[in-house]
Amino acid sequence: MTLSKASSAAALLDWYRAMGVDEAIGDAGIDRFAEAAAARAKPEPAPPPTEARQSSPPAGPRREFASLAPDEAVMDARERARGANTLEELEKALSGFEGCPLKATAKNTCFKRGSDEARVMFIGEGPGRDEDLQGLPFVGRAGKLLDKMLTAISLTEDDAYVTNIVYWRPPGNRTPTLQEVQACIPFLERQVELLDPDYLVLIGGPASQNLLGTKEGIMRLRGKWRDCEIGGKARKALPMLHPAYLLRNPAAKRQAWRDLLTLKTALEKTDET
Ligand code: URA
Repeated sequence: MTLSKASSAAALLDWYRAMGVDEAIGDAGIDRFAEAAAARAKPEPAPPPTEARQSSPPAGPRREFASLAPDEAVMDARERARGANTLEELEKALSGFEGCPLKATAKNTCFKRGSDEARVMFIGEGPGRDEDLQGLPFVGRAGKLLDKMLTAISLTEDDAYVTNIVYWRPPGNRTPTLQEVQACIPFLERQVELLDPDYLVLIGGPASQNLLGTKEGIMRLRGKWRDCEIGGKARKALPMLHPAYLLRNPAAKRQAWRDLLTLKTALEKTDET
């Protein structure tokens, strides 16, 4: 079978999208073959003096990124997070942190959305494309569904605080790696300590598994209150299906509704006491 030029271009775009290449980074295309041929034709330039080489930024669209070894990154994150006494200070501390490799490819840091007085803290997997563009968690399609789910149990932005286990978008929306999560976790733990919510809701498998320290799947974890120790305090955490999963599998909304009712019941009980 031969494809027309238009359909082979469409197939190529579909493939790019499936691989996570979902945005252009320049107005004009770059002919890398021509660049390589020109480079081969040119004699090697003399290296610049050492001092100049050290201070010049790396070429290309990536921004300069001081990478730390994974254990150094975790220590740096802990120190910065510990030094913050308010959520505002913590956000500032996070903005100076260079230990998570995801920061190098992200456009913005997505720290949180919602109220600093919230009783419930929702923790998702990581920012997607819309979140990366706006610098806020859960503002894309999944976020809109999450908002509708919260409204359905009468929770407003004043009652909810929304964040993720990583603060920068994983390229192509892949699942964050253990190293990326570990670099961000000290900030998340401090966020929990400073907000001190009545309940945590863990949205989706990666958030649930990383915070509960288990490999069990979300289908088994969801819907039951779990103990989660953060900052020396045992906290109640409810794993829930991810709204992005519900968008792909609308039939699972029944289970999500049951989980929301579990949260609502807990909130009403706390109201009575
Ligand atoms: N999915 C997440 O887990 N978090 C977001 O912020 C957006 C989509």
